[in-house]
Amino acid sequence: MCGIVGYLGNKEKTISVLIEGLKTLEYRGYDSAGIAYQKENKIKIIKSVGRLQNLEQKINLEDSILGIGHTRWATHGKPSTTNSHPHQVGSITLVHNGIIENYIELKQSLEKIGYHFQTETDTEVATAYIDYCYKQTKDMIKALKKAKEKLKGSYAFGIINSDEPNTLYAMKKESPLILGRSKDELFLASDPMAISSHTKEICYLKEGSIAKLEKNKITLIEDKETTPTWVTLDIEQTKCNKNGYEHYMLKEIHEQPDVIYNTIMPYLENNLENLHKMPHFSKYQKIQIVACGSAYHTGLVGKWMLETYANIPVEVEIASEYRYKKVFYDKKTLVIVVSQSGETADTLASLRKANKDGIDTLAIVNVITSTIAREAKYVLPVKAGIEIAVATTKAYLAQLALFSLITLKLALEKNQVNEEELEELLVHYQKLPIKIKKMLKELNLKELASKVYKNEDIFFLGRGIDYAICTEASLKLKEISYIHSESYAAGELKHGTISLINKKTPVLSLVTDKYITEKTISNIKEVKARGAYSIVIITQQLDEEADYYDDKIVIPNTHFLLQPILNIIPFQLLAYEIAKLRGCDIDKPKNLAKSVTVE
Ligand code: M6R
Repeated sequence: MCGIVGYLGNKEKTISVLIEGLKTLEYRGYDSAGIAYQKENKIKIIKSVGRLQNLEQKINLEDSILGIGHTRWATHGKPSTTNSHPHQVGSITLVHNGIIENYIELKQSLEKIGYHFQTETDTEVATAYIDYCYKQTKDMIKALKKAKEKLKGSYAFGIINSDEPNTLYAMKKESPLILGRSKDELFLASDPMAISSHTKEICYLKEGSIAKLEKNKITLIEDKETTPTWVTLDIEQTKCNKNGYEHYMLKEIHEQPDVIYNTIMPYLENNLENLHKMPHFSKYQKIQIVACGSAYHTGLVGKWMLETYANIPVEVEIASEYRYKKVFYDKKTLVIVVSQSGETADTLASLRKANKDGIDTLAIVNVITSTIAREAKYVLPVKAGIEIAVATTKAYLAQLALFSLITLKLALEKNQVNEEELEELLVHYQKLPIKIKKMLKELNLKELASKVYKNEDIFFLGRGIDYAICTEASLKLKEISYIHSESYAAGELKHGTISLINKKTPVLSLVTDKYITEKTISNIKEVKARGAYSIVIITQQLDEEADYYDDKIVIPNTHFLLQPILNIIPFQLLAYEIAKLRGCDIDKPKNLAKSVTVE
C-alpha cells in the first residue's frame, strides 16, 4: 500500500535518499510514484505511473536540501500520473497515506470559494484544505491544527510549504508515520525500512501528532509541544535481500525451518519457563480471533487447535466485519488479533474497539514495533523476520506455531495434558524444523505444476482442520498466479459448487485427519466421478494405493496439534511453481499491497 519518504539534510543526497527509500517500499504494492523537492526556493514535482523505473527515468540527480516521495496504491481515482502524489495546491505540496472520508463535502465547500481540482483524489482535497487553513492563519502549525479538526478518516502526511524553505512538516492519524535522525539529517517515513540504511534512530509519531522538521531541529506537537522519544531500530528487522533465491517468496518459504525454530524454542527452553510466562488464559471462557486475509486463515487453524486440544469455544471473525458489527464479548472474553504487519487498518480498528470496551486483547504480530503491537494489552511476537513477498508464507507458518503454543499453555493450565503426553509433544516440537527442512528439500512440484498451470479454475477440498488449511492454500494460489480458486469444506461441494467441476478441473484434496478420512475420500470420489483431475495431499500414515487420485503428495506425520504446520508447505510451493510457469510477478502481485493500511 502507499509509502512515504521525506528527507532534510545533505543537498547532494536528497533525491537518491527518496528514490532508495521508495524502492524499499515497493514490496508493499503500488501503481504510481512521485517525488517533490526544493529547488531554488521553488518546489519541483516529478511523477509517473507504473514501476519506479519509469519515475527514475524522468529524474535528474539535482542538488536539493529537502524532498518528499510517495508510492501510491490507488483508492480514489485510477492509477495515473495526474492522480499520483505529491499533490500541490497554492503553497502546499503534500504526500498522503490513508483515506480522507469527508473529501466530497470538503471539495464542494472549497470549490465554492474558488478552488479548482485537477484530480479525482481525496488527497488533493486535503492539500487544498491545508492551503486554505494556511491562508487563513498565516502560520503552518496553526493551519495543521485547524485541518486536523476538519479532516475525517486516516492520514500520514509529508508536507512542504513553499513559503517556508528548508522545512518539512508531518501529521499523522491512524496511518503509520515515523521520524528518523542522524548527524545533520532528518527523515520521515511510513515504514522504518525506507530509512534504515541511513539511520537506526527513529521516533514513532503518536496519533494526532504534528511535527516540524528544520535543520537540526524538530518541533513535535502531540497534545502539547513535547520532546520526541527516540528508539533504536532492530538491525535484523531491516535486513532484506534475496540471498540467491529467484524470488523473495521462495526465499521466505525456505526460511521456514529457522522461523519455526526461532518462534517456538524461546517458549520451550528451561522447562517451558517462557511458556508459563504467557498470559493466564484459563480465566477466559471464550476467545475471539480477529484478522484479515491469511491472518484470518491462521485464526481458523487457531480455533481448531484451541477447541480440539484446550477445550475452549473460539469465534473467528473477519476484522472488516467485526469492527462494525454487534459483538458479544465480556470480561471473560479474550480478543486475539493476528497480523503480520501490525498495521492492517481493519485489524487495528477491531483491536481499538475491544480495547475501548475494556476487553482483554492479545496481539500475535510479526512487526514488533507496529501500532497493533503497541496498542494491544498482551503481545506475543512471531519471529519470522521481515517478510517482503506480498503473499505471506513464513509469517503465516509462525502464527500457526504460536497458536499451538497458546493452546498448549491453556491445556496445561487446565491440567488437560499429562506428563507423558507433554513429553511426546515436546519431542515433536523439537523435530518440527528438521521435518520442514526435509520437506522443502524433497518436494519437487515443478512437474505437477506443469500439469495444472493452464487451468483457470482450481478447487481445494478438506474437512475440519484440512479445510482451514485449504482456505490459505486457495488464497496463496489465486493471489500470485491469478487462477480462480475456491476452497470448500469437502462435504459442502455437492450443495451447489460441484456443478463447476468439469473434465480435468484440478481438485486438490487435503487428507490428514484420521477421524474423518473416509468422509473426505467419499467426497473426492464424487468429484473424480465427474471428471476432475484429482490431486490428493495426504499424510504418510493415511497414504494408500487407491483409485481416487491422479496425483498425490505425501506429507510426513507429526503430533496432530502440529500437523497443520506441515500441511500448508506443499501448497505454498505448488502455488509458487504455478505462478512461475504463468510468468507472474510473484513477489508483487497485481492490485495487492503488503500492508493494507486503509479499510
Ligand atoms: O499484515 P496482516 O497480517 O494484518 O495482513 C493481512 C492480510 O492483508 C494478508 O494476510 C494478505 O491476505 C496476504 N497478502 C496474504 O498472503
